Amino acid sequence: MIENKAFIYKSIPDGWPVPGQDLTVEDIGFDENAPPPKGGFTTKNYYVAYDPSQRGRMRDPSIQSYSPAMKTGEPVISVSVIGKVLKSDDPAIKEGQIVMLQGSGSESYSAKDESAVKTTQIIEPKEGVPLTAYLGLLGMTGMTAYGSLHEIGQPKKGDVILISAAAGAVGQMVGQIAVREGLHVIGSVGDDRKLDFILHDLKFTSGFNYKKESIADAVKRLAPEGIDIFYDNVGGELLDVALANMKVFGRIIACGSISTYNNAKDTTPYGVKNYAAMVRRRLRWQGFLVFDPNIAQWRKERDENVTEWIQDGSFKSVDHITEGMDNAVQGFLGMLKGQNLGKSILKIADPE
Ligand SMILES: NC(=O)c1ccc[n+]([C@@H]2O[C@H](COP(=O)([O-])OP(=O)(O)OC[C@H]3O[C@@H](n4cnc5c(N)ncnc54)[C@H](OP(=O)(O)O)[C@@H]3O)[C@@H](O)[C@H]2O)c1
Repeated sequence: MIENKAFIYKSIPDGWPVPGQDLTVEDIGFDENAPPPKGGFTTKNYYVAYDPSQRGRMRDPSIQSYSPAMKTGEPVISVSVIGKVLKSDDPAIKEGQIVMLQGSGSESYSAKDESAVKTTQIIEPKEGVPLTAYLGLLGMTGMTAYGSLHEIGQPKKGDVILISAAAGAVGQMVGQIAVREGLHVIGSVGDDRKLDFILHDLKFTSGFNYKKESIADAVKRLAPEGIDIFYDNVGGELLDVALANMKVFGRIIACGSISTYNNAKDTTPYGVKNYAAMVRRRLRWQGFLVFDPNIAQWRKERDENVTEWIQDGSFKSVDHITEGMDNAVQGFLGMLKGQNLGKSILKIADPE
């Protein structure tokens, strides 16, 4: 047996997960001499994607949602894990290949049975495209941004778009596409370093730090004529202010509501006050999941365009890398608390 450190989901948090109680790092062991599972394969893992949706799966299993609750005592499930194949019992997956596992444990080594083969993506390295881009712009996050902005937002040159959590994984992608397509792009962020990033690196038209300025004042100041598209990653007060400032026939893309994910059981959710704008301004407000067919249909176009834009340098793939499994808990909480800039990723080992 060799050491196999893993990021473990220990118990259901009530409110913010408590390190050492709800989330830990433990050695779960790995038998490097064992054959791969029948029809399956084994991997040494390099990178694990963090996503806010992981917090939603740390819940009482009796509460239904679009993805099952995680099991306590097991590694935290990640949407995507990148690793190298060590041994394989399936002809489609070969030793030494770089693969992306979907819905897999946050662990240093994995043994996957045959059911994992059909969801495993073999990554052919492309010049100028970092491996981590397959967790961000070219992964689930990028698909979320590309598909929903086009399908629900229906952006047109000159439209005013407001994006919340604009320096995060989804936000940085939505913003860069919107800049590229000639929109007037406004970002809301939680610190000045992020504001500098969206304005100077990503070339947003404008932005504000919602922790320093009243959200209502900032939106009035930066979008005096109103908003055509609101890309909502956060919910809460910013959603309410956006509703009050939408233009007639505006579109609201409901991607997530991270401001609520760590609410304790007895917390009363933020109550939206400006709902009347929906009818008065004839708004369209649509939620989605990245694997919905109308979003997933943008996959080919996303893959082609975004690969080209990363390669020609016109698109930035900015990651926040947490180094080492020992720091897994802090990297995850850092994402939820707004301490990370770009796509949050846990690096377990250097790719060989
Ligand atoms: N519908 C789907 O299929 C789908 C798929 C992927 C992601 N999502 C959703 O998209 C959203 C963004 O995900 P991501 O992966 O791109 O995460 P992310 O933006 O990289 O990280 C989360 C960010 O949320 C902001 N935030 C945290 N708490 C906040 C609060 N109370 N108020 C305002 N902002 C807060 C922080 O940025 P600041 O420092 O700027 O506040 C933080 O950096 C999440 O809601 C996620 O659940 C949905």
